[in-house]
Amino acid sequence: MKKDLKFYLNKALKEGFCLGALNFSNMECLQGIIDGAKATNSPIIISVSEGALKYMQDDYCMALANVARKNKGIFLHLDHGKSYEICKKAVDLGFDSVMIDGSSLDYAENIKLTKKVVDYAHKKEVLVEAELGQIKGIEDEVSSASHHYTDPIQALEFVKKTGVDTLAVAIGTSHGAYKYSGEKTLRFDILSDIEKLLPAFPLVLHGASTVDQELVNKINKFGGEMKSATGIPAELLVKAVKEHNIVKINTDTDLRLAITSAVREVLMQNPSIFDPRDYLKVGREQVKQITIKKIKKVFFSENKL
Ligand code: G3H
Ligand code: 13P
Ligand code: ZN
Repeated sequence: MKKDLKFYLNKALKEGFCLGALNFSNMECLQGIIDGAKATNSPIIISVSEGALKYMQDDYCMALANVARKNKGIFLHLDHGKSYEICKKAVDLGFDSVMIDGSSLDYAENIKLTKKVVDYAHKKEVLVEAELGQIKGIEDEVSSASHHYTDPIQALEFVKKTGVDTLAVAIGTSHGAYKYSGEKTLRFDILSDIEKLLPAFPLVLHGASTVDQELVNKINKFGGEMKSATGIPAELLVKAVKEHNIVKINTDTDLRLAITSAVREVLMQNPSIFDPRDYLKVGREQVKQITIKKIKKVFFSENKL
């Protein structure tokens, strides 16, 4: 588990690709992700947030994930665990890696909490990701409207003191479907400074959906309202993967757009259908297609199994 995931993270670092970390919260989304990964012979991380775990319930989540993990190169990850208790629970359930997100705490408290999780998880061969700086969106209730970029000097000290396996950095990405109102940029200068101090250390980018405009347009066309939705331009993500040490790219919003756009279209165009399979299978297929597109054009993990 840990060894295999570590192997792929190191391989990604060496070969200039990344592992997509794709969130799921139901069977169809998970099946779409796995179908996409299998079609491209790609390793992939399947991510479950605290909210998604609560929604699916532990046993159902693990049953689904364990079927998915029968395939080679599929890893189960806890996304944005906010406490020691939730991370411990995920470790005990059999996750391959956990994220302890202490980014809303002050620096010393973040180190303390992260170290506690690392000490527990590593004993069970589970990898740990932490976050330094703040990524706008999910953490809005604890941050200001502006970004809190990762401080490179703190990043070096944080990694040394905690022993984390990967670090999520804040360089201008944000969670959700409304990422930019102005210029679409990322702080590659900060990323380079982090990499100078932490050479060859695996870094993670959250809030990295491109907010696929085809999907947004489909949602708007079929009764939705997402007029100003914007994401990270794909070329910035490609640069992060190809020219920097980003080995894991988190994507949730694009998958939500995929399933929702497909379900909206099929229901609007076929007002008489009422069997959930009739619309969910179309949603599942759209998730598969967006997964394939990302693997080929952003993650570059095709044929890396
Ligand atoms: O980064 C956060 C993910 O998009 C999870 O969101 O807490 O609504 O499941 P969620
Ligand atoms: P997006 O909202 O950009 O898909 O980010 C998801 C994420 O970072 C999950 O941890
Ligand atoms: Zn995130």
